[in-house]
Amino acid sequence: MTQYMESAELEGWNMVQAAAQAMATFDHSRPARFARTAANGLRPLAPQDPNAALLWDPFHGWSLPAGASRQDVLELYLPIGSATAGRPITLGHIGQSLDGFIATPTGDSCSVTGPDNILHLHRLRALCDAVVVGAGTVAADNPRLTTRLVSGSNPVRVILDPSCRLPATHTVFRDGEAPTIRVCAIGAAGAAAALTRGEQVLEVAACGRRLDLKDVLAQLHARGHCRIFVEGGGITVSSFLEAGLLDRLHVAVAPLLIGEGRPAIRLSPQLRLQDCLRLRYRVFRCGQDFLYDCDLRAVAGGTGNGGGNGAYATVQRVL
Ligand SMILES: NC(=O)c1ccc[n+]([C@@H]2O[C@H](COP(=O)([O-])OP(=O)(O)OC[C@H]3O[C@@H](n4cnc5c(N)ncnc54)[C@H](OP(=O)(O)O)[C@@H]3O)[C@@H](O)[C@H]2O)c1
Repeated sequence: MTQYMESAELEGWNMVQAAAQAMATFDHSRPARFARTAANGLRPLAPQDPNAALLWDPFHGWSLPAGASRQDVLELYLPIGSATAGRPITLGHIGQSLDGFIATPTGDSCSVTGPDNILHLHRLRALCDAVVVGAGTVAADNPRLTTRLVSGSNPVRVILDPSCRLPATHTVFRDGEAPTIRVCAIGAAGAAAALTRGEQVLEVAACGRRLDLKDVLAQLHARGHCRIFVEGGGITVSSFLEAGLLDRLHVAVAPLLIGEGRPAIRLSPQLRLQDCLRLRYRVFRCGQDFLYDCDLRAVAGGTGNGGGNGAYATVQRVL
């Protein structure tokens, strides 16, 4: 898919990856500026050097210097690459039909959104330390959850399986492509057997069958994972959202009507619209889909600058 990316977008994506890799190399508590290297890396510059390609600010993270030409791919991904141990990020993504479903009633979901959105998912995996999915997704899709369409390492795979119901035959538990953590409720029958098989098992507090997701995040942060990508499905993304644990939410809307099926976001009902979440967002065109990038830590209000550059790119900002 990368061959469809226009060169400016590829260049922008390389810069995002360089920024993410550079995070391990400098003190985040001070402003810093960087130049690109020939090998697609970043090289630190003196504090006033005017030749910076990328700036770091301890409060706002990565940004482009004033006057640099805007690149949609940088706007979309740099906020994620700006996470630090002291300011981790949890990002949820859902790819849904126009009528708010992620799959048919039988769980068929493999092409709700188009190939550009799939590329976007792989970029998020490449940028994040851990990818979280619910047991329903593993049962329905038997996914690999690896980074295959772009360069970058595989995230740690985190499977929410409160009662340890998933058989060990699923790919994530046996392919060895990346570490996999099965998260279950403390005392779940099956946890001991999973440990005996050599699986990584994380037992967390639960209220009934509902896992304490705050504890899940705390334990992932304690292991050094500060960029957490909640990839689905609808129940899982909704439970992180309802618990107030998402910093950003990506909703990719496909021009498709499913009619009835597995729902995307579902939250507890509110009687008054004023109590519903009204989001601050930007919109990117992602092939045939529209991607809403919602900042859940910002107050709803303006939509920022609009306008795309007309050239074909896999992500292109429209609002
Ligand atoms: N379009 C997309 O963006 C997208 C992404 C991923 C998957 N999918 C599709 O979505 C479907 C699956 O989605 P889904 O919403 O039905 O299920 P899901 O979110 O994948 O998994 C839900 C299950 O995960 C566990 N879980 C999640 N949050 C939990 C919490 N806070 N506490 C305890 N357990 C928790 C529970 O397992 P138990 O059932 O064991 O209690 C729950 O029933 C599949 O068809 C898949 O193909 C679509």
